[in-house]
Amino acid sequence: MANEDNLFKNVIAHAKEYGFVFPSSEIYDGLSAVYDYGQNGAELKNNIKEYWWKFMTLLHDNIVGIDAAIFMHPTTWKASGHVDAFNDPMVDNRDSKKRYRADQLIEGVIEKLEEKIEKEVEKAAKRFENFDRAMFVTTNARVVEYQKKIDDINARLKDAMGNGDMAAMKQLIDDLEIADPISGTKNWTDVRQFNLMFSTEIGSLADDANKIYLRPETAQGIFVNFLNVQKTGRMKIPFGIAQIGKAFRNEIVARQFIFRMREFEQMEMQFFVKPGEEMKWYEYWKDKRMKWHQTLGLGSENYRYHDHLNLAHYANAACDIQFNFPMGFRELEGIHSRTDFDLKAHEKHSGKKLQYFDTEDNQNYIPYVVETSVGLDRMFLSVLSKSYVEEKLEDGSERVVLRIPAPLAPHKVAILPLMKKDGLPEKAEAIMNDLKYDLRCFYEEKDAIGKRYRRQDAIGTPYCVTVDHQTLEDDTVTIRDRDTMKQERVKIAELKAKLVDACSINNLLRKI
Ligand code: GAP
Repeated sequence: MANEDNLFKNVIAHAKEYGFVFPSSEIYDGLSAVYDYGQNGAELKNNIKEYWWKFMTLLHDNIVGIDAAIFMHPTTWKASGHVDAFNDPMVDNRDSKKRYRADQLIEGVIEKLEEKIEKEVEKAAKRFENFDRAMFVTTNARVVEYQKKIDDINARLKDAMGNGDMAAMKQLIDDLEIADPISGTKNWTDVRQFNLMFSTEIGSLADDANKIYLRPETAQGIFVNFLNVQKTGRMKIPFGIAQIGKAFRNEIVARQFIFRMREFEQMEMQFFVKPGEEMKWYEYWKDKRMKWHQTLGLGSENYRYHDHLNLAHYANAACDIQFNFPMGFRELEGIHSRTDFDLKAHEKHSGKKLQYFDTEDNQNYIPYVVETSVGLDRMFLSVLSKSYVEEKLEDGSERVVLRIPAPLAPHKVAILPLMKKDGLPEKAEAIMNDLKYDLRCFYEEKDAIGKRYRRQDAIGTPYCVTVDHQTLEDDTVTIRDRDTMKQERVKIAELKAKLVDACSINNLLRKI
């Protein structure tokens, strides 16, 4: 059985062994922070996409989806601020030769102080019967001191980041006496800005005029198409444009498996609203997106909001939905009130009007935007890591099971003839041929049935249908439930409706 520390390692190993995620170009020893999705991973990913796409576009009749190109005119990134401001502050430790994000080193100190506060709170809560947390954290001398430190650090970090003052960042690292977790030394280089965009050349001439970028977010493809969609779709504000697609960032610290990659996928939606109404819609989308996540059934306690203190250059309010990943609570989705920053900037740089004529108010304006942006790969990791369970069974044996929510599982049902003879395979194939139009099926006749069940548990197949001799007599089969391991006998005629009902993404959507 894995403890917390090696659980993540086991999840990563399992993902590779069972065809979910492979290191990219592994035969050449891989490529840092780039991964390929295998046969089961691709199915899981597609199902997550479907859950998101249907939620956005089917359940909201004022949201439409598009698919913009990855390459965009280079001025796009000048207008959006990415050429000048899409930087991370980086710092190297001279002894370990490791590179870090300076802001993350500083945030690590804040996290430790927050943990100390929580420990004081827990201790006190045990001591006093009618414990008043709010009162305690404002009066306990130690907690007040920790909080003051946090506030000071946050204020300095915000200032330094806001002003792009790398010397102030370095001073903060020195003042907080931050040591490299690997070498243990404080032998840091200066902090430098590092632009995260990948660039390449378009056409045959490699000069600066041909330099283009691989998009670092899908959002800009939506902004530049705002009027195209609004006009051709006769959209009325408020309305949204959704998109799923690849994004690329030359991350400084790209560790932790598929959590932080250099090539990844985003599922983004820009919701265009009347100026002044953005906070109402910001709250609306915070709530809706949280419900979408929680409906998956991975445990409501594994999600929380985290308000941004250091706002991105385009936002007037922003928060993350954080998920309890194996390495702790981290950002899963961002919800940002982006004001009219992007449309205004594109209007200025393109010289084209990007305004909406509001027939109710009889006026033109540049809409404000509330954005929801979730990383598909992070969603994948959240589902995979929380589904992964190492179980000790009553008979003393162990199994690894992926309790993936049935509608997202790569295969919904495995069809297993008990034996490879007596007409059982033919009967099983006939059942599969009937089910395969509605459900992704897996057919297997090799090995003992117990072994086959374990293999299906390991790839998260929620149901196994076993065809035995009784099937030939009375047209019934057994359905084995992955999670309870209980078996029930059902009529073949009732099989499809039962399985479709349990595995349907549409049914999941109905619960939101
Ligand atoms: N358009 C807004 C935007 O891109 P972001 O917070 O930078 O905002 C949104 O990214 C989401 O994209 C994040 O919440 C995360 O899920 C995902 N994401 C960002 N960088 C990533 C990376 N390097 N690898 C995997 N996912 C990433």
